[in-house]
Formats: sequence, C-alpha cells, structure tokens
Amino acid sequence: MNPQEKTVTDAFHRLYYDGPEGEGQRFLQTRWMGVPTLKCPLDLWIYQELLHDIRPDLVIETGTHSGGSALFLAHLMDILGRGEVWTIDLHVYPDRPNHPRIRYFQGSSTDPKLLPAALKTRPADETRMVILDSDHSQAHVTRELALYAPHVSPGSYLIVEDTNVNGHPVYPEFGPGPAEAVQTFLATHPDFSVDTQCEKLLLSFNPGGYLRRQPA
Ligand SMILES: C[S@@+](CC[C@H](N)C(=O)[O-])C[C@H]1O[C@@H](n2cnc3c(N)ncnc32)[C@H](O)[C@@H]1O
Repeated sequence: MNPQEKTVTDAFHRLYYDGPEGEGQRFLQTRWMGVPTLKCPLDLWIYQELLHDIRPDLVIETGTHSGGSALFLAHLMDILGRGEVWTIDLHVYPDRPNHPRIRYFQGSSTDPKLLPAALKTRPADETRMVILDSDHSQAHVTRELALYAPHVSPGSYLIVEDTNVNGHPVYPEFGPGPAEAVQTFLATHPDFSVDTQCEKLLLSFNPGGYLRRQPA
C-alpha cells in the first residue's frame, strides 16, 4: 500500500470501526445468518479464500461471543464438504447457533486442561488453522500464541484478530495488544511470517495478523 492509499484506508478504517457519530460501531451491527459476528466483512472474505485453499480438518477459534464467526466457518465447511470448528469462550452467550460442525467449549482459552487437552484426542496429522479472537491484551495473546501456534499445520494459518487496536490505526488508548504480541512472537518463531496478501482488500481488522506457517 502506498502512503496515499494508507492515508485513505486508515481514515475509512477509523470511520468504519468507530461508526459515524451517533450510529455506533459497524462491527457490532454485523450479522451472519442473523447471528452477531464481530468481524469486518472484508476479513470474512479472506477467511473464505483461506478455507478454500487450506481445506482445514479443524479450525480452532478462541473467543466465541455469539457464535457468528463459528457459524460462518461451519457454513463454508458445509460447502467444502469437510472440517469442524472448535471454539472456546469464558461465557455462554444466549441463542448460540447449533451446527453439527461446531463444538463449543466453556472456560479460558489459556487453560491447558480445556481445549488444548481435548486436541490430544484428534489425529495429529490433520490440517488445522487457528484464530485468536478472545482477550486482546498483549499478555493474553502471548499466552495463546504459545499454546496454539504449535497446532497450526505447516502451510496453514494462525490468524491473530484485532491487531488494529492500540493505534494500528484505531483505538489508540487500548494499550499493548495483539499487534505487540505478534511482534514478539515473530522474533522467536522464524517458521511463521506475515502474509500481506491477506490484506489485499485494503481494510482489515488484522493488519500484520495473518501469519502463515512455513510449508513442510
Ligand atoms: C471479540 S469477541 C469474539 C468474537 C467472535 N469470534 C466473532 O467474530 O463474532 C471476544 C470474546 O472473547 C471472550 N473472552 C475473553 N477472555 C477470554 C478468555 N480468557 N478465554 C476465552 N474467551 C475469552 C469474550 O467473552 C468474548 O466473547
């Protein structure tokens, strides 16, 4: 992105993220098949492209909220004819969608006795993708990266959501968050790198957050 494109995109990002005055944040008004989905639709399009290319057997998602993103992934998997979503949240939100490809876990994403323990029951050679979208503090994302990065299959993706906060370019008062956790992680994990192609649609809530694991 050249500097002029970045200026325009960042201005639209702030408008989109914060919403026009009095109208509220756009991502809080976004739904997939009626279910609240706290994502930028352009990122969901990229998810679609990644699922098509990677065809994961399992997507691990931290941060379920209402289940909109899990349902979106499950519906794509219906089209592709393969895959499951395992998603974990501290809370059970009302009217969470039921879908045979979705398995819900309740508790903290960083509790090794919950989702990470359950992963031991699955075939080690399956293709997995990971999406981190729970507590966005740097400390929490750092713990999640340590727990879940080893589960990303070679050639597949680790998506760190909301790297846009803390002034990248929105919510400057957030404090160190996902982007700062990613920076530290990449310095010690040379098998992962940022796939900037995933930012080709210009607006993304995850700038620098689409990490690809080197193919085997
Ligand atoms: C941004 S929302 C997830 C949005 C959802 N993935 C979507 O796209 O619609 C973040 C969620 O993380 C959950 N959360 C916060 N801390 C958590 C933790 N330690 N472990 C698991 N979930 C957590 C919150 O309850 C909240 O529902």
